[in-house]
Amino acid sequence: MRFDVITLFPELVRPVAEYGVTGRAGEQGLFELHTWNPRRWGTGVHQAVDDRPYGGGPGMVMQYAPLAAALAAVREADPRLVRVIALTPQGRPLEQAMLRRLVQCPRVALLCGRYEGIDERLLEAEVDEEWSLGDYVLSGGELAAMVVIDGCARLLPGALGHADSADQDSFTGGLLDCPHYTRPEVIDGRTVPAELLTGHHARIEHWRRREALGRTWERRPDLLARCLPGAEDAALLDEYRGLRRRSGGRRDTDD
Ligand code: ADE
Repeated sequence: MRFDVITLFPELVRPVAEYGVTGRAGEQGLFELHTWNPRRWGTGVHQAVDDRPYGGGPGMVMQYAPLAAALAAVREADPRLVRVIALTPQGRPLEQAMLRRLVQCPRVALLCGRYEGIDERLLEAEVDEEWSLGDYVLSGGELAAMVVIDGCARLLPGALGHADSADQDSFTGGLLDCPHYTRPEVIDGRTVPAELLTGHHARIEHWRRREALGRTWERRPDLLARCLPGAEDAALLDEYRGLRRRSGGRRDTDD
């Protein structure tokens, strides 16, 4: 998979491909990262890439021409079709399923907005989708582009070892992940749930599924509503609620 990031700050973006899982995936050749600075196609002595907004108001707007030229260079660099995604707060909120679909694309260009935004005509003419990290405003799309690259790189076949396969991730099955524990068995009187120490595969899986359902119900009921639990999961969730009631946790009246 090939990523081309169009950004005024390439040095900010590049380290996403240098550490940990993404670093190894890059070394293995599972993905390539290229950066393009639109300033190269800027105008005047300062190689300007922005100008004042029509209609007035604060801030500057990224101009059409330098971004279009950068995208033309991106398209020319490799004959494969490129999916162009702009990172802006107006975009579709990012979800795991969007990353899963994106890794099917051989080439992805990520366009990072700065200032007040990007000339709308560039978005209309050149961009396939706008994505957002969430309902908050960052000073540019670079961090969002890095999030997309990281989230995709770890999904590429061979990037993760079998033990930490992406199939186990939160959101993959529409639920949050269950809690995890490692040695030592007791820390300041806090113990590891007994089921995890049984060595009994089915009991462990039962516990993990129940905790994943319970956590999702408590923390992200919106996700639970979307994945419509079947009869078996509904029973596990009842079990979780019963245990929580008895341990003085969250009450049923909260839902
Ligand atoms: N640029 C500025 N804010 C952003 C956000 N929330 N998501 C993606 N890109 C952005």
